[in-house]
Amino acid sequence: MLMTRPMMLTGKRVFLALGALVTLTLSYANGFATLPSDMTKRCTLERYQKMIGYNCADLKLKEIPQNLKSGLLILDLSFNRIRDLNTHSFGRYTEVKYLYLFENMIQNIEEGTFSELVNLEALDLSNNALTTIPLELFRLPLLRNLYVAYNNLANLEDDLLVLEKPIRAPLQILSLAECWLKRLPNFGILPDLWQLNISSNPMTDLTIDQFSPMCNLRSLDLNATKIPPCSCQLITAELSTRRTVIYNNHPSCFAESTTCLQDSSTTSPPAKTEEYQQCMDVRNTRKLDTEAKSTWFKISLGVVACIALFLIILCYFHRRNARNLKENRKKQNMSKNVTPIHRIKVPPSDDDPPKVVENGNRDKLITDCD
Ligand SMILES: *[C@@H]1O[C@H](CO)[C@@H](O)[C@H](O)[C@H]1NC(C)=O
Ligand SMILES: *[C@@H]1O[C@H](CO)[C@@H](O)[C@H](O)[C@H]1NC(C)=O
Repeated sequence: MLMTRPMMLTGKRVFLALGALVTLTLSYANGFATLPSDMTKRCTLERYQKMIGYNCADLKLKEIPQNLKSGLLILDLSFNRIRDLNTHSFGRYTEVKYLYLFENMIQNIEEGTFSELVNLEALDLSNNALTTIPLELFRLPLLRNLYVAYNNLANLEDDLLVLEKPIRAPLQILSLAECWLKRLPNFGILPDLWQLNISSNPMTDLTIDQFSPMCNLRSLDLNATKIPPCSCQLITAELSTRRTVIYNNHPSCFAESTTCLQDSSTTSPPAKTEEYQQCMDVRNTRKLDTEAKSTWFKISLGVVACIALFLIILCYFHRRNARNLKENRKKQNMSKNVTPIHRIKVPPSDDDPPKVVENGNRDKLITDCD
């Protein structure tokens, strides 16, 4: 018993060493020139609902790995040490839909880094060292969710002056929490935006007109902002009529005060409703489009159903006719069968062959009468 224990241990060690050797060879084969100590720290291939994804979180990565399957749809690079992104970073991964880059040290993003990611639907750049949002993101045709919280975007407002508006990205969720924003930047109309998070910004100035381009807003986080009570009350009052849920921890914002409301009715500029109207127009046009599409769909469905019904009826009659024909033929055959019996019974002899012909003719005459 005592002898077997060390032996087992040495056996285990040999096994481990072999395993390490195999992994090392494999990692070299995959193009990794990693040190043995980093061997376990590799991106793992994971499948989420039939989508190929790579989990590269928390691997102390400084660059985007270039040896992953290019068809990946999910790429999690969070909690790494990435500083710079350039046009080669995601050149291989243009199919990616969900890209997680939060908790890195990203400072510099070369222009065009994200331009080719036309399938990108969600991007998380929270907790980095960004000073602006790459404007190309707003041109991505499918980008729905954009998280840039915990970056220093104090100058974002100026950077967005050159932004082409309306933006192409159908943004639905935008998080700008804790971004050192003093004012809410102007993104132009955002007809799809339903969730905006501007919490924990030193925002001292916010007006209801700034929410006009967001006609579909359902959730607004104003927590820990420095908005004056009157502005906050007005925004809360107006947005609640639009069924927007507002998160705010300032009790003064919810205090009933009619003076704020009276002031607003005299000062609200007419331009405020213009952008709201534009935003609603986009939504209504789209609604009409989908309605028209669904009407056409229903019409086509009706036509297809009619054709199908017609074919079924046709098929039914065809079958019935075929059956009738068969029955007729059966009847015919039954009466014709007399002849072959005759033929078998009466072997072809030189006695009188014309008799058979005669019989056949007679049968034919009988069936014709039928
Ligand atoms: C807004 O962002 C902060 C910080 O990321 C988060 O804690 C909070 O839950 C968010 N609010 C909403 C409504 O999602
Ligand atoms: C708002 O902030 C306070 C602390 O400042 C926190 O307790 C509360 O959960 C926050 N609410 C939301 C909705 O984020």
